[in-house]
Amino acid sequence: MFLWQKYSAIPRKYLAQIAAISLLAGGILSGANATAAAQAASAVAAQSTAHSVSTRQVEVIKSAPWWKHAVLYEIYPRSFQDSNGDGIGDLNGITDRLGYLQSLGVEAVWLSPVYPSPQVDFGYDISDYENIDPQYGTLADFDHLVAEGKKHHIRFIMDMVMNHTSDQHKWFIESASSRTNPKADWYVWKDPKGYKADGTPIPPNNWISIFGGSAWQWVPARKQFYYHEFYVQQPDLNWRNPEVEKAMFDTIRFWLDRGVAGFRFDAIPNLFEDAQFRDEPVLGGANAQGDPILNNIYTNNLPEVHDVMRRMRAMTDKYSGDRVLIGETYLPNVKELNKWYGGARHNELQLPMDMQVGFTNKLDASLLRKRINDAETGIDGNQPLFVFDNHDNRRSWDRYGDGVHNDQIARIIATLLFTSRATDLMYYGQEIGMVTSTPTRKEDVKDPIGITGWPKEKGRDGERTPMQWDDSKNAGFSTADKTWLPVAANYKTVNVKSEEADPNSLLNLNKKLIAMRKDNPALRDGAMVMLNPNSPSVLSYIRKGPKGEPSVVVALNCTSQPQTISLNTHSAGVDGATVTTLVTNAPELQNTHSLKNITLPPFASWVGSVQ
Ligand code: NOJ
Repeated sequence: MFLWQKYSAIPRKYLAQIAAISLLAGGILSGANATAAAQAASAVAAQSTAHSVSTRQVEVIKSAPWWKHAVLYEIYPRSFQDSNGDGIGDLNGITDRLGYLQSLGVEAVWLSPVYPSPQVDFGYDISDYENIDPQYGTLADFDHLVAEGKKHHIRFIMDMVMNHTSDQHKWFIESASSRTNPKADWYVWKDPKGYKADGTPIPPNNWISIFGGSAWQWVPARKQFYYHEFYVQQPDLNWRNPEVEKAMFDTIRFWLDRGVAGFRFDAIPNLFEDAQFRDEPVLGGANAQGDPILNNIYTNNLPEVHDVMRRMRAMTDKYSGDRVLIGETYLPNVKELNKWYGGARHNELQLPMDMQVGFTNKLDASLLRKRINDAETGIDGNQPLFVFDNHDNRRSWDRYGDGVHNDQIARIIATLLFTSRATDLMYYGQEIGMVTSTPTRKEDVKDPIGITGWPKEKGRDGERTPMQWDDSKNAGFSTADKTWLPVAANYKTVNVKSEEADPNSLLNLNKKLIAMRKDNPALRDGAMVMLNPNSPSVLSYIRKGPKGEPSVVVALNCTSQPQTISLNTHSAGVDGATVTTLVTNAPELQNTHSLKNITLPPFASWVGSVQ
């Protein structure tokens, strides 16, 4: 999918980029650390209502901030639940579904943007940071949602787009009006490189927009170009101007004061551009939009962004309740990822997203093992956040599925997600196995990337189709005659209601894994040690139980062939004499009582308790 192509399909571009970043890396400010224990009481209360928690576990919970063991759930509000029949999801719709989210075990919802917006990029083009778009409701509806969320022990995390605003934002309208207005320097403005013979201005450099074409747009009133990393309607803010930081930090406080649990920072590595506006090196070839592929050393992941992150963290740490900062961080490796935590200083984001595990796009045991090990060993004791699905990429069902065993493979991914040590992020519909439903005709496409990039780039509509609640009209998403995107064709069988009724459904597996993860001491806090580390076919590991408690062993057959394995837990200091099956997608493994010679059917997942 589109962003993924830009950020990771060209590994060699990173070699130069990483070299540049490490050369430029500046000094590190010290920031306040998270105040973990102070909010333990509310976390315990939230946990204990949904699931029974032992006294000893309460002690463990007390010492950790809530987000460390949380299951986070991304809602794309347009597509979750429509409460007023206009074919578009809204805040009251989400409120109506809080009971479902609680039953799944969700502890915090990341809301994709709900601010006023012309919706060119479906909310990622914000025209007012301190309000709610009427399509989604009102501020009162938002407050109601947060208040009701509390009753269901669900927090809310706002999507915050700080790299750019909408071109309809009053800041940009003022900034674009002249070179002398008070906000003249709030965006990235630049004189033309020159003029063609016919008077057409020439863009300042070769920078390309992620969404296609030159990243520069001419404004006659200023006789200057502005820079837009994304659509023309999404001008980049100038983060070298302290007034911009102040204004944006004010909006962050606005939402913190309203009780949100934290933020997911959109496109955060793009905040700064090269101060000298140098051309980016051309790597050769063309992307899906037909643009030359550049090495983005001057527009992505510049070291200046870390100063902002440290100041942001220091500010949010002043709030009670362990507010969490999450980053949309597509990065080339764990070394780069670690910088977003502030490394050993732990003074930037608490949870920059690790896209290394969930976007390998192939069920390759060796690769997954390496990436998970990277997260275990390369982030200075910070907490990993694994992501397999979001609103920008084809659903993991299709990226990892082989077209034959998709259901089994989805169970492997769910098992991996919830038995790892990482904080987990799910995307609505992932839990029931929603598929990517990409439009087949250009005239049906809503995502502008798909319109400009058709047919090579078909856009992101496929992963944004309405949530499938039941087998009634529009899958129970809306009573409208036409929904903003069509409901996926398989909704009659793939939906929450039917899966709730089926004890063996993917939904019920997800629920079981999530509940287990919360209650099982080894899964909550146990060290993660790989077993059979050279197996190319089976990914297996142990989560070590605290003294006296069982450990948990996981084996995932990543191939379409049966695999026979023996798991030696002694290397991890675990006896392994008593084995019971906790969860498996293979009925024949239900009675596994020994770690020797276990034959895993194709794409089997097995989770056992071991002592
Ligand atoms: C990343 C968001 O996830 C994506 O949906 C959006 O189009 C771009 N950032 C621009 O805000």
